[in-house]
Amino acid sequence: MLGTDAPRVRAGATGTRSLGRLDWSTWPKYEAAAAGFRDYWYPVTWSRKVGRKPIQVMAIGETIMLIREAGVVRALHDRCPHRGVPLSHQLATQEFPGTWTCCYHGWTFDLESGTLVAAITDGPDSPICGKVAVRTYPVAERFGIVWVYVGDGDPPPVESDIPSELLAPDAVVCGRITRRPGDWRFGAENGFDEGHAKFLHRKSLWAWRTELPVWIQIHMEQRDGWLTRVSDKVHWTQEYPGLGTWPPYKAPWRRRGKRGPTVGIRLPGILRVAYRGWDHYEWWVPQGAGDHHYIQLAGTRARGLRALWFRLYYWTIVRWIFHGQFNDQDALMVDVMDAPPERLYRPDKAIIAWRELCETDAREPATRSASTEGPDRPTAAQGAA
Ligand code: FES
Ligand SMILES: [Fe+2]
Repeated sequence: MLGTDAPRVRAGATGTRSLGRLDWSTWPKYEAAAAGFRDYWYPVTWSRKVGRKPIQVMAIGETIMLIREAGVVRALHDRCPHRGVPLSHQLATQEFPGTWTCCYHGWTFDLESGTLVAAITDGPDSPICGKVAVRTYPVAERFGIVWVYVGDGDPPPVESDIPSELLAPDAVVCGRITRRPGDWRFGAENGFDEGHAKFLHRKSLWAWRTELPVWIQIHMEQRDGWLTRVSDKVHWTQEYPGLGTWPPYKAPWRRRGKRGPTVGIRLPGILRVAYRGWDHYEWWVPQGAGDHHYIQLAGTRARGLRALWFRLYYWTIVRWIFHGQFNDQDALMVDVMDAPPERLYRPDKAIIAWRELCETDAREPATRSASTEGPDRPTAAQGAA
């Protein structure tokens, strides 16, 4: 646990550095994770978007084709090993059940294994068949979202990367998926950032009924698998010597919350904000260089009329003024941030704790063998066959 007055953090094994003079090399694993952390399940799209016509999605820098065959979603690396045409190209077709055919020369891949089962334009005895395969990805569907495991080796159960309350039989989940410019780590740090909400969002619609504190003294705790910001003391109004009182006014209709929502973060980049009666979640799924998918979910546990009421509340209010206007203010910041270098201040102990968590807890990438070096396997048959 980091203390409330701990503006110094571990820097290697030898000592501490001033909080304001850190650079990202303090967290080499985190610094290297520009494309995200491998060996996790990532949410990639809504189940309803995946049908018999393939779509292309991205997760941590890998381009993936999704297609539904006989009710099961299959995921293949979206690049034909022959000459690199996307398998999901609009001209591509299904020529045989259980397969998908590249539109350029007719290489045909088994959807389940990724193996090349026919090179149509080389005849039925084409010697390359069975010697090339396109990479496939483990896929799962949970509460209307498609999850893809991007990593090496055997995946853990998808449940290990989804907050357990969302998997409850009476869970009600609504949400919004958008593509946002900006490094996914800026998105994650913004989500868990202690200092910004009470300033940046002060005039947002979501906060119109609520008085926001000026500042909060916090410490970090591990709670239930989440690195959690815990409030120690909330300051609602403050005198700044030589400057005056801030904020200068209080809107009379605004009510003080007690401590605000509880905010937690976990790997590979999931935020949970616990409100009264429901939770907000967000994932930052790295796409290409410098942008990410921002997946926002609102979840509660309810049945019948209460479940209907929650959906109504989401679609009429939360979606527009929280998942929309409020978090779009964050998107503007994430887009323009330019760090490092950076000079951190006391509330950034939350960000530091997140970076340290990544450093210590991110799953180690399995050692890659030569046959899995690239997204496709194996490579030996290419060329002479
Ligand atoms: S590029 Fe796909 S078959 Fe040639
Ligand atoms: Fe925010």
